[in-house]
Amino acid sequence: MRDWTVLGIETSCDETAAAVVRGSAPGPGVILSNIIFSQLEAHRPFGGVVPEIAARAHVERLDEIIETAIGEAGTEIASLDAIAATAGPGLIGGVMVGLTTAKALALATGKPLIAVNHLEAHALTARLTRGVAFPFLLLLISGGHCQLLAVEGIGAFRLYGTTIDDAVGEAFDKVAKLMGLPYPGGPRIEELARNGRASRYALPKPMAGRSGADFSFSGLKTAARQIVRSEHPNRAALAASFQEAVVTCLVDRTSNAIAAFRADHADLDNLTLVVAGGVAANLAVREGLTRLCAREDLRLIVPPPRLCTDNAAMVAWAGLERGQLGLLDSAGVAPRARWPLDARDGGRNPAAPNSSLTS
Ligand code: KG4
Ligand code: ZN
Repeated sequence: MRDWTVLGIETSCDETAAAVVRGSAPGPGVILSNIIFSQLEAHRPFGGVVPEIAARAHVERLDEIIETAIGEAGTEIASLDAIAATAGPGLIGGVMVGLTTAKALALATGKPLIAVNHLEAHALTARLTRGVAFPFLLLLISGGHCQLLAVEGIGAFRLYGTTIDDAVGEAFDKVAKLMGLPYPGGPRIEELARNGRASRYALPKPMAGRSGADFSFSGLKTAARQIVRSEHPNRAALAASFQEAVVTCLVDRTSNAIAAFRADHADLDNLTLVVAGGVAANLAVREGLTRLCAREDLRLIVPPPRLCTDNAAMVAWAGLERGQLGLLDSAGVAPRARWPLDARDGGRNPAAPNSSLTS
């Protein structure tokens, strides 16, 4: 297969992003440009992502970001093989901005359009960076998503577990907010936790020890709230105790998913766990998963933080892989607020990326 060059557009949450990627499945590919404009400052006063502000900010910046991405890549629209955009799941106003822009570009230039599932883009990032072969186990942990899936192929996923309430990044953000830390709270909690004693507060580890691979974090958040309200907590110790409880939950759930994945792929010699999403940047999480993979004899792959968090290079790459298989979309393709990877998911995963305002 000849290499493709694809423009990717990402607007499903609070990052306005465009990127140009070149390569062929199964990867690795070359990232020719990867432009990300974070709207963090616009949302910070509200302690979470405000959908209406996000959609407007995408409208204001997207054209310029696309131009920069194409310019930095040293290419032009005429040389692209396809135009890909996130079509969901996510905040619908933002998704509409990116997808409609992609449609307009595709119509004006006669290039193929590819509507990308944001979760599939996260899932395929390890192929862009490392050319990881199917199937692999994916732990997707971000502000909006918290899932364990077998990635069997393009459009082929098997869900082992998802969260029944908050996503793990959302839990970090909400507990940080309780403690008066600015949004996004994950990195702040990790920083504070470095100087804290994790055994100081006994917090619950929801779902740990139970069968299956579903997650739950609301009980942990409630326990943290009670500590904040009832005493003057040692903040570093509370951060450390919370982070350790989260790591215990993630490792416990992933361990069950590894057993299920192993059973489903008894013929496979070398198993791989890929971790994606913003929470993968957390060192304590990485250490917990590194120990688990060493014990279970799995290869652990964590893409670099800039590609773990929301970006358009992953969208371009997912579009490239779909395009090379002839999976193109028409201009009639609709944006979707909810779009589970595995139909068996039943839409239980949170539809919208993190919005601490809604709960
Ligand atoms: O993947 P991402 O950029 O956006 C979503 O799709 O949600 O993930 C952002 C989330 C936020 O909840 C943020 O608090 C969390 O990832 N996060 C972290 C760390 N860095 C980012 N959580 C814990 N520790 C970190 N170092
Ligand atoms: Zn994401």
